[in-house]
Amino acid sequence: MNAKMTIAKEFRIGDIDKRIYGSFIEHLGRAVYGGIYEPDHATADEDGFRKDVIELVKKLNVPVVRYPGGNFVSGYNWEDGVGPVEKRPKRLDLAWGTTEPNYFGTNEFMKWCKKADTECMMAVNLGTRDAEAARNLVEYCNHKGGSAWSDLRIAHGYKEPHGIKLWCLGNEMDGAWQMGAKTAKEYGRTALEASKVMKWIDPSIETVLCGSSSRNSSTFGQWEVESLEIAYDSVDYVSLHQYYDNKSDDIQSFLARTLELDEFIYSVICACDYVKAKKRSKKTINLSFDEWNVWYHSKNRPFDKWSISPPLLEDIYNFEDALLVGSMLITLLRHCDRIKIACLAQLVNVIAPIFTKTGGGVFEQTIFFPFMHLSNYGRGAALLPLMECPKYDCKEFTDVPYLEAIATFDEENGEVSIFCVNKSLDENAVLDVNLMDFEGYAPYEFISMDGFDKKAENSFDNVVVRPHGNALPKLDGSILTVSMKPLSWNVIRLKKA
Ligand code: AHR
Repeated sequence: MNAKMTIAKEFRIGDIDKRIYGSFIEHLGRAVYGGIYEPDHATADEDGFRKDVIELVKKLNVPVVRYPGGNFVSGYNWEDGVGPVEKRPKRLDLAWGTTEPNYFGTNEFMKWCKKADTECMMAVNLGTRDAEAARNLVEYCNHKGGSAWSDLRIAHGYKEPHGIKLWCLGNEMDGAWQMGAKTAKEYGRTALEASKVMKWIDPSIETVLCGSSSRNSSTFGQWEVESLEIAYDSVDYVSLHQYYDNKSDDIQSFLARTLELDEFIYSVICACDYVKAKKRSKKTINLSFDEWNVWYHSKNRPFDKWSISPPLLEDIYNFEDALLVGSMLITLLRHCDRIKIACLAQLVNVIAPIFTKTGGGVFEQTIFFPFMHLSNYGRGAALLPLMECPKYDCKEFTDVPYLEAIATFDEENGEVSIFCVNKSLDENAVLDVNLMDFEGYAPYEFISMDGFDKKAENSFDNVVVRPHGNALPKLDGSILTVSMKPLSWNVIRLKKA
């Protein structure tokens, strides 16, 4: 297959907000206990944080981590997770049918964030609780001192405010499975009042309104419009969540899901701008895609009800999942003019790129690598590549481009990166890239993941699905010719020669 791509500085979509490379830690399964926190582990530091996990989180270069949920947050009393650990109550978590021991809470997470070189995106409970608990948490975390809640933080040993800048107003409040689920109008009011008082305490914070729990939600569209009509003036972002699966074992349709994802993002932008127009507002609401991933391998596995941190949602990812994760992140970057935050859900053990054994080792799942490449090399501005490329039809979609691509240009270090997935099952793609005004640029690294069985997985003993280097693609004048294997993830890095 032959294909063409043209990139130019002028084809700038927008600056990439680094928070698009965010992730998520929920009090769910072994994400916290046995994941980031395991005091008895051989690599645990003085705070009980697993250093082997922190090392991998740093490799992913994740600038922001959403916490503490997820469905969990809709029943969470944040006060249970602060102060002397021996006094903290054990609570039933109705979201996941487990027991939360509260050994780890807000302050521990903030400490962990510092060690992992990341920032916290804090979610407040607007399910079983309201504006009162939310504003108290902002006061506890962000107020310097001299008030009851901020003095309590100081008494708990944290003199300096945590200074958390980004706050989620609940989680998936449209979903019947959510504790305290609401109609769009009920939620709009609750979110508005919470956001208002939270910002009165700390005007420097930004808030995220819950959008629909997925594009398939029956109220999708209407939910965004109705809740935004009420809360528009106080909030900064609206959230999107989407998980994909390959239950039907149809890889061509699975890899084509990004067409649907693209539509989804576009619809939410339209909903935001529709409300903006109706209100004659000067303010633009941007998007926080704060849960996205592949999720299905582990669904409906039995576990011990009400146990503490049982293995839940422990998907082991395969090579085709990595190709979709790379394609999804490319799709998000194509909308970086409006998507400012995104969280790969989740970070450790629970539908995650990092997988641990409690008391044992850790490994990188297949999806770790495309995320790592984009997060490390896909900084600066996103450039829309003009593509000429053959398309395929499959069971669920027609006209699916075989290549999914994005280019980025980092003016700070002068680097250009091209990321491309070849979705063809059996054809090499020979891609001619016209470098236009990137005169004098030459490739210096070509990394790919290819040649694996589509169902190949990694394990503690063998991280077999991993990237490898290739011979540099040929440059002839301004045309770079890259040969990409069937079913492959490709990264080409260029700089001025
Ligand atoms: O990430 C797992 C769960 O998926 C989250 O708790 C919830 O928000 C979503 O439904």
